[in-house]
Amino acid sequence: MKKRVLSGVQPSGKLHLGNYFGAMSQHIGGQADYESYIFIANYHALTTINDAEHLRQLTIDVALDYLALGLDPQQACLYRQSDVPEVTELSWILSTVTGKGLMDRAVSYKDKVAKGLVPNMGLYTYPILQAADILIVRSHLVPVGKDQVQHIEMTADMAGYFHTTYKCDVFTIPEAMLNEAAVVPGLDGEKMSKSYGNTIDLFDTPKQTKKRIMSIKTDSTPVEDAKNPDTCNVFALLRLFAEATEVAEWRARYQAGGMGYGDAKKRVHELFEERFAAARDKRAELANDPDTVEDILQSGGKRARAIAQPLMEDVRKASGVVTGR
Ligand code: ADP
Ligand code: TRP
Repeated sequence: MKKRVLSGVQPSGKLHLGNYFGAMSQHIGGQADYESYIFIANYHALTTINDAEHLRQLTIDVALDYLALGLDPQQACLYRQSDVPEVTELSWILSTVTGKGLMDRAVSYKDKVAKGLVPNMGLYTYPILQAADILIVRSHLVPVGKDQVQHIEMTADMAGYFHTTYKCDVFTIPEAMLNEAAVVPGLDGEKMSKSYGNTIDLFDTPKQTKKRIMSIKTDSTPVEDAKNPDTCNVFALLRLFAEATEVAEWRARYQAGGMGYGDAKKRVHELFEERFAAARDKRAELANDPDTVEDILQSGGKRARAIAQPLMEDVRKASGVVTGR
């Protein structure tokens, strides 16, 4: 039996190369090997986005991005978090068996507050809703970056608290599947992130993308001199796109001297186009067909709900929250 894997993506802005190499390519790549569930975390996004039209648009954008990049909805189950409303019910019940101290220890919350975000209660209890997402589909594995590992450990803790409190065994205890992908550098060499304005977005026009790539920061080593590939932001991107033999050739060209950074940037742009041009066309096609996208999301929601509803029934029974006679 294939293991069940769940990935959640917040609809919080345009996706970029960091998101692609750091998360999405693994999510999409896993669809053949695992029973994959990929959902758009629109309830979570409410903790930071309070504009209905914007949230609706961002939610559809994530669906378009994944479908354009090769997510096959016949294989992976793609759904909107809010189409499985049982997650909010489970989140509440988990919150009643979870000590406040666990939330006080959440590093991601502290980071956000340190960056100046004024927290609402939703942001504070975000890990409980995330635990509900994971437990409600009984997922075994959750692929995440390092920053999210604590939330998966908290999920296992919360499942344990429920089991101990109600002397039962209703949840599958999940494990983090740590994504070892290297951090993708942005135009300025810092981590590529939408909050730093240093991104190369996946679905800009070719002209915009080229402009961004040509503006990647490099040092001022003259063309004729040897250059260090391992400290170069352009080389870091080349490595992600190119085959090993081509990477080795570029390494040699850097070290030999006589190569300008512009040549490497042009190659990154070509490779970007080779990788994403077809996806860009597919995305445009899908964007013109909102009914199809909506059908995919709704049927994904039904599949996920078919697992969530019986699980919630077990949770209600175990905790004495009886609905009906
Ligand atoms: P952003 O920093 O742009 O707000 P998110 O925090 O929303 O991005 O990240 C969503 C997913 O993409 C996470 O799984 C994260 O680990 C991955 N990711 C984001 N930026 C990068 C990057 N520069 N390198 C590798 N992975 C990244
Ligand atoms: N917190 C995750 C992030 O910021 C998104 C998320 C919400 C998630 N619920 C999840 C990820 C459940 C994995 C499983 O990237």
